[in-house]
Amino acid sequence: MKIVLLGAPGAGKGTQATRIAEKYGVVHISTGDIFRKNLKEGTPVGLKAKAFIDKGQLVPDEVTCEIVAERLKEKDCEKGFMLDGFPRNVMQAEALDKMSDVDLVLNIAVDLDKLMARLTGRRVCRECGESYHVSTFAGNKCSKCGGEVIQRADDTEETVGKRLKVYSEQTQPLIDYYTAKGKLQSVDGMKPIDEVFAEVVTVLDKVK
Ligand code: AP5
Repeated sequence: MKIVLLGAPGAGKGTQATRIAEKYGVVHISTGDIFRKNLKEGTPVGLKAKAFIDKGQLVPDEVTCEIVAERLKEKDCEKGFMLDGFPRNVMQAEALDKMSDVDLVLNIAVDLDKLMARLTGRRVCRECGESYHVSTFAGNKCSKCGGEVIQRADDTEETVGKRLKVYSEQTQPLIDYYTAKGKLQSVDGMKPIDEVFAEVVTVLDKVK
C-alpha cells in the first residue's frame, strides 16, 4: 500500500503511523523525524532545517522533496510506504505525483482549536520517538526503550501557534487537492486514540 497521512500538527499522524506500521508492516517515512535525526547528527540538512522548524515554518520545498525522492528509491519502499508529514503544500503534492502514484490519502480530521493543549502537553522519547502526553504520563523515562522523555523544542505555545497557521494556509488546501483526485478518506481524529485507529483499519483494510 502507498499511503499519505494528512493532518494538522498534533492531529495524531505519528501516533497512528506507529500503529499502522505495526499492523500492516508498511514502511513509515516521517519528514519531521528525518529532519530531527539529521539535527541530532549535526548534518548540513539538519542544521538548515533547524532554522525553519524552530520558527514553526516549513523547510524549503527543494530540500524536503529531494529527501523524500531519495528515500522512496530505497529497496524497502518497493512494496509500499506510508508518508507522514509530506506533502505539506500543493508544490510538494505535485512533486509527489511525479515520484509515485499513491493509493490513498488518509486525512486525520481534528478541531484546530483543540490542538494547542495536545501539542504543548506532548512529550517524546529522545531515543525511539515514542509519544506521550502529560495528562497520562509523568516522569521522564520512556516505557518502551528507557530513553529520556523530553518536550520537543517546537512544542512551545508560540511555535505551535505558528505551525497551526502554516497548516491552515498551506497544508489544508491539500484536502481539496486530493478530494478532486478521488483519493481522500477522512477519519475522526477527535476520538480516543484506539477508536481513531479502529476507523483507520476499516479504511486501510479496503486498500491493502
Ligand atoms: P512534524 O514532525 O511532521 O510535525 P507536525 O506535522 O507538526 O506533526 P506532529 O508530529 O507535531 O503531530 P502528529 O500529528 O504526528 O501528532 P502526534 O501523533 O505526535 O514536523 C515538524 C517540523 O518539521 C515542521 O513544523 C516543519 O518545520 C518541518 N517539516 C516536516 N515535514 C515537512 C515538509 N513536508 N515540508 C516542510 N517542512 C517540513 O500526537 C500529538 C499529541 O497528541 C501526542 O501527545 C499524542 O499522544 C496525543 N494524541 C494523538 N492522538 C490523540 C487522540 N486521538 N486523542 C488524544 N490525544 C491524542
